[in-house]
Amino acid sequence: MVPKWVCAGFVYLLLGLILNVAEFCNGGMTSGYQRPNNLSFDMPLDSDVFRVPPGYNAPQQVHITQGDYEGRGVIISWITPDEPGSNTVVYWAENTELKNCADGIVVTYKYFDYTSGFIHHCTIKDLEFDTKYYYEVGIGNTTRQFWFITPPKVGPDVPYTFGLIGDLGQTYDSNTTLTHYELNPAKGQALLFVGDLSYADDYPFHDNNRWDTWGRFIERNAAHQPWIWTAGNHEIDFAPAIGESIPFKPYTHRFFVPYEASESTSPLWYSIKRASAYIIVMSSYSAFGKYTPQYKWFTNKVTEVNRTETPWLIVLMHPPMYNSYVSHYMEGETMRVMYEPWFVEYKVDVVFAGHVHAYERSERVSNVAYNIINGLCTPVNNHSAPVYITIGDGGNQEGLSTAHSHTTQPTVKPALDMAFLTLRTGLMPTSVGIGIKMDMPLKLTHNGFTTDTGNHRKSPL
Ligand SMILES: *[C@@H]1O[C@H](CO)[C@@H](O)[C@H](O)[C@H]1NC(C)=O
Ligand SMILES: *[C@@H]1O[C@H](CO)[C@@H](O)[C@H](O)[C@H]1NC(C)=O
Ligand SMILES: *[C@@H]1O[C@H](CO)[C@@H](O)[C@H](O)[C@H]1NC(C)=O
Ligand SMILES: *[C@@H]1O[C@H](CO)[C@@H](O)[C@H](O)[C@H]1NC(C)=O
Ligand SMILES: *[C@@H]1O[C@H](CO)[C@@H](O)[C@H](O)[C@H]1NC(C)=O
Repeated sequence: MVPKWVCAGFVYLLLGLILNVAEFCNGGMTSGYQRPNNLSFDMPLDSDVFRVPPGYNAPQQVHITQGDYEGRGVIISWITPDEPGSNTVVYWAENTELKNCADGIVVTYKYFDYTSGFIHHCTIKDLEFDTKYYYEVGIGNTTRQFWFITPPKVGPDVPYTFGLIGDLGQTYDSNTTLTHYELNPAKGQALLFVGDLSYADDYPFHDNNRWDTWGRFIERNAAHQPWIWTAGNHEIDFAPAIGESIPFKPYTHRFFVPYEASESTSPLWYSIKRASAYIIVMSSYSAFGKYTPQYKWFTNKVTEVNRTETPWLIVLMHPPMYNSYVSHYMEGETMRVMYEPWFVEYKVDVVFAGHVHAYERSERVSNVAYNIINGLCTPVNNHSAPVYITIGDGGNQEGLSTAHSHTTQPTVKPALDMAFLTLRTGLMPTSVGIGIKMDMPLKLTHNGFTTDTGNHRKSPL
């Protein structure tokens, strides 16, 4: 199994990895939180987390995301229920008197027998880096005030902590996930969301009221730190039987992303720079084969990433390309065939996915040698290859994936089998943060305890 290492540095990394497995076994058991392996039910409509804010036309479902390429912009979104009201955001930096205004747009949509509220999106730009801003929405009627902190200026040594959540839904477990994320001493500063948001489509006629409850549920975090969106299968909402044949309709109306800033032609795939990371968001449910817009965009973009400026290259997608669970087994295979050679050649650091309701991490493996007839269908370790991490156990009502596939499909080298088995049964990492600094090992934390430490010292670029 151990290939011939050409690089002395990597031998060290491999040793580090083995030691860390042992370390994990002790460290991992110390968490007080064990996610029960049973179905969790959606919180009822009258739950505290779904409460409508008081006041005439009060803005609700407030959430923010990055609004430009470099982190000096923020898109602020909110919904007003009674009338459109104002599209204006008033904002000011902490410790200044000077208030600024920006105007956005308002959109609505219908879905079967549902009509949305007035969905506002306003991009504010040219903010100072590393600064706390307050903002106010609902101008003219009931106003509500929130705050966020801009990231530091993009640069190779800038430390930054990203949280990761996928497949969240709106069950009691989803609420626990979010609470643990908020209380985690690792303090995520921005959240990379790997798809499957509300699970409204699990309801009859995709009851879009469950998109609204979800928006109110996440507001307590998403109004204060940017959630970087990836579309999952539960965002497709394709239901021609009830006359709804435009894919991603609720999602694209509710969640704006700065796709044009990265020359993308679709909100479903885009990229941003943030602190020391370059983040590419991909859409597994849009055309991605050769010659498609997404393929052309990705293959241009990935070659342009300046690794001196953003040494960390992170890809987000919904279904994992490497997955050893029975659940969604091999669903990521077509994506792997198209994109893995690019990931290896351009030395993507980590690929995060959700979809499978479990945690799993691969070694740095590559399966690009396989060409259907040469028999080389077992992934090999390659230090240019990404680490693949599945973090799809956010807590939705469909329950956890626990059964592992026993087929011989080439999947991860299970050197970390113990790690993810322990994680899966005893310690669900409902949120993880990555220490994102040059030479900092990949360190996933849950509840403040290190749950998984990877061989993530950067290999030479
Ligand atoms: C899941 O299991 C936990 C702990 O055993 C229990 O408290 C909870 O009620 C169960 N939830 C459901 C939905 O069955
Ligand atoms: C709500 O705000 C709008 C302007 O945004 C204004 O025209 C309207 O009169 C306000 N309604 C109330 C009840 O204050
Ligand atoms: C959700 O979690 C928050 C914070 O822990 C708590 O205050 C609230 O009561 C919870 N709501 C439900 C319905 O579990
Ligand atoms: C890459 O980024 C570095 C550091 O910001 C900068 O000095 C260099 O000019 C950039 N290279 C290119 C090709 O833009
Ligand atoms: C890693 O993959 C790249 C690209 O496929 C290849 O050129 C290189 O030889 C591989 N390295 C090892 C150690 O297998």
